[in-house]
Amino acid sequence: MAVELEFSGPYALLTLNRPDALNALRFSMIDDIAKALDCIERSTARALIVTGAGDKAFCAGADIKELMDRDLTAHRNGVWLGQRTFSRLSTLRIPSVAVLHGYAFGGGLELAMACTFRIATEGARMGLPEVKLGLIPGYGGTQRLSRLVGEARATELVMSGRTINAAEAERWGLVNRTVGSSETAPSPIEIGKAFMSEFVGFSLCASLFAREAVQRGMSTTIAEGLNIEADLSTLAYCTSDATEGMSAFAEKRKPEFKDA
Ligand code: CAA
Repeated sequence: MAVELEFSGPYALLTLNRPDALNALRFSMIDDIAKALDCIERSTARALIVTGAGDKAFCAGADIKELMDRDLTAHRNGVWLGQRTFSRLSTLRIPSVAVLHGYAFGGGLELAMACTFRIATEGARMGLPEVKLGLIPGYGGTQRLSRLVGEARATELVMSGRTINAAEAERWGLVNRTVGSSETAPSPIEIGKAFMSEFVGFSLCASLFAREAVQRGMSTTIAEGLNIEADLSTLAYCTSDATEGMSAFAEKRKPEFKDA
């Protein structure tokens, strides 16, 4: 299978598994990612880790050979498929991290940008090289990159097709952190598990509301963003997990959250 889904303890593990083509995304793989998201929504997983198989790449982008010689309707439908699927990923009930090793280009970087977080290994190389093909990003790249790194840097990257390394990506805020990539370094999945262990112990309600407040606030005014925060803060306050969390603090014990 070119997209594999497994479960390991609290983690769902989604692996792009087409290493001979640097995990380039065929449309059928995007369909499989959508099906995997359905499966994850029905599971008890509390975090998703997205990785690419093989040593060379997280994902080298959309499959260029498959993109060729399509009519405009087919092209538009392909773009919608990618956008719709990656938007679902960005609002998945549980947080997600993409662990980027080797190349993360084009649609691969767009997939990573739809995750809640991104971790890069030291040798990772990232970019949106579509302009070199006479194209522009189509799976959300122009929109998510500018929200992550700001207009100037996003415009530079999409208009030049330039490749950046992990250190630059971290400085820009494109990745949350960079980890070493020596032979003894942990695998991308282990890196993802270690990172996500910081997020899995809380109420899913509070995690979701927190992410939603940030996400929705990014595309509106500060006044509207503060309203969104007030509404979501009040909703969080109404959950039994909030009662449990505050009681546990007062009673000096560990909270037992029930995601309710
Ligand atoms: N689509 C299809 N096949 C790809 C691919 C892609 N995006 N990227 C790599 N491959 C294939 C190559 O064709 C090659 O296959 P063969 O052995 O059958 O020839 C194999 O993967 C290995 O690739 P290279 O030999 O090129 O490996 P390299 O180490 O010399 O170079 C690379 C690596 C710099 C990543 C280079 O492969 C490359 O530039 N790939 C294309 C990157 C790109 O332009 N991505 C954007 C795609 S468009 C897009 O994503 C649109 C969108 O917004 C949705």
